[in-house]
Amino acid sequence: MRPKNNKIVIFDTTLRDGEQSPGASMNLDEKMRIASVLEDMGVDVIEAGFPIASVGDFEAVHEIAKVVKNSTVCGLARATQGDIERCAEAIKPAVRSRIHTFISTSPLHMEYKLQMTPEKVLEKVTESVTLARNFTDDVEWSAEDGSRTEHEFLYRCVEAAIKAGATTINIPDTVGYAVPSEFADLITSIFNNVPNIDQAIISVHCHNDLGLAVANSLAAVGAGARQVECTINGLGERAGNAAMEEIVMALRTRQDLLPYSTDIKTEAIIKASRLVSTITGFTVQPNKAIVGKNAFAHESGIHQDGMLKHAGTYEIMTPESVGLTESKLVLGKHSGRHAFKEKLIDLGYDLGDNAVQDAFARFKDLADKKKDVFDEDIMALVDDEIMRTNDRIKVVALEILCGTVHNPPKSTLTLDIDGEEKSCKSTGDGPVDAAFNAVKELFPHEARLQLYQVHAVTGGTDAQAEVTVRLEENGRTVNGQAADTDTMVASVKAYINALNKLLVKREKSAPSALSA
Ligand code: KIV
Ligand code: ZN
Repeated sequence: MRPKNNKIVIFDTTLRDGEQSPGASMNLDEKMRIASVLEDMGVDVIEAGFPIASVGDFEAVHEIAKVVKNSTVCGLARATQGDIERCAEAIKPAVRSRIHTFISTSPLHMEYKLQMTPEKVLEKVTESVTLARNFTDDVEWSAEDGSRTEHEFLYRCVEAAIKAGATTINIPDTVGYAVPSEFADLITSIFNNVPNIDQAIISVHCHNDLGLAVANSLAAVGAGARQVECTINGLGERAGNAAMEEIVMALRTRQDLLPYSTDIKTEAIIKASRLVSTITGFTVQPNKAIVGKNAFAHESGIHQDGMLKHAGTYEIMTPESVGLTESKLVLGKHSGRHAFKEKLIDLGYDLGDNAVQDAFARFKDLADKKKDVFDEDIMALVDDEIMRTNDRIKVVALEILCGTVHNPPKSTLTLDIDGEEKSCKSTGDGPVDAAFNAVKELFPHEARLQLYQVHAVTGGTDAQAEVTVRLEENGRTVNGQAADTDTMVASVKAYINALNKLLVKREKSAPSALSA
């Protein structure tokens, strides 16, 4: 029987499936910041990580479980005792906690990945859910590769999971293979063939390999699914997951055809999107639905004319409804500390007195260099400030001399490394290379540069440059970010930010290996 209630539970997996995107790894502090934004925006369930995967994952779930009060905090676990017990330990401090346990159910996965018979998998379903229920009443069970599972077998697994105590049954389209009508039929058939289905909520988890993740999720909702798993900006394995902003705004905008509700404060969407993009270094494509830079831009004369006559001619939702406000001139160089503090609160930052003090000093510097200071500038500046607390290596001074083939670019760099200032001169194939070579000379390391990316925070030639640098060392990747009106300074600071993050990782895995 299809549910009567029309509330859709939003289950965000940015911190788990999203973090599984190659290169999107986040540190504890970054995960905590994202979790806090997700909680504030009204996410029902935050999947905070996969505790057995690493010490870092365990810690992230555990710390998030301690601070998040309004969302359920969930951890992922395979169908093994070790995974489930580790997950239970990680989520223990949460006000509301969930264990999400999964096992593959498709013929292909059972034969090649698990090397288990269907009967053995069925046994594991019962065993894993029963064990998880010893730790929390809120247990989600997932049929990995559910959309490619034989229906009769899927019904038996779902029935067994519910009988063992699962309260949410998740049907993933793990490889993004389904099409909407087929996926809706699958959900309908589960309602029609699983006798105890009324004792659980059906959830869906769609990947975007064919660009159908959102369409499949919405089709499933139409067929009775009441939880949607999604990520900010559609981050996730391979082509990603269903994008939360698209699901939520489709439901809000098309109430005529999709009469379902969520508890998401949609006005927080842009802030969440920006934060996830800055932290991961995954820029949002300009034409991305809802959060792309062009999603509310009108370039052609005909469209602009229509917009001036009536915004509804070309806009099906207002920019304000997703938290996009006209870029405003917010503060100038004569603005005082009080106005600055008010602005920070307005933008959703809750900083301690010392951090406000430091950010204010940087704002004054910026206002001296840059004619107009916009909301985006303040956000970039504060994000930058937060990222640099506790850094062991700091940039003290940088000079760059650009050049041609006969006169290669030169850099002079001074770094503060553990309280000691060191300087050197270097050259390179271009100014960025010259600056990065100087960093390597002052702080020798084996980390490889995987990504160097620059984008302008606002328009104009005096715009701040926001730079992301991704470094890889022994299979671990970190993203460093920085913003500055000088692109070269931002580049070196982003590189140093990534190095500092690698040092923290090294300290955790081998406390003695602290030198370069
Ligand atoms: O894609 C998938 O099947 C998953 C499961 C663990 C839910 O991420
Ligand atoms: Zn997934």
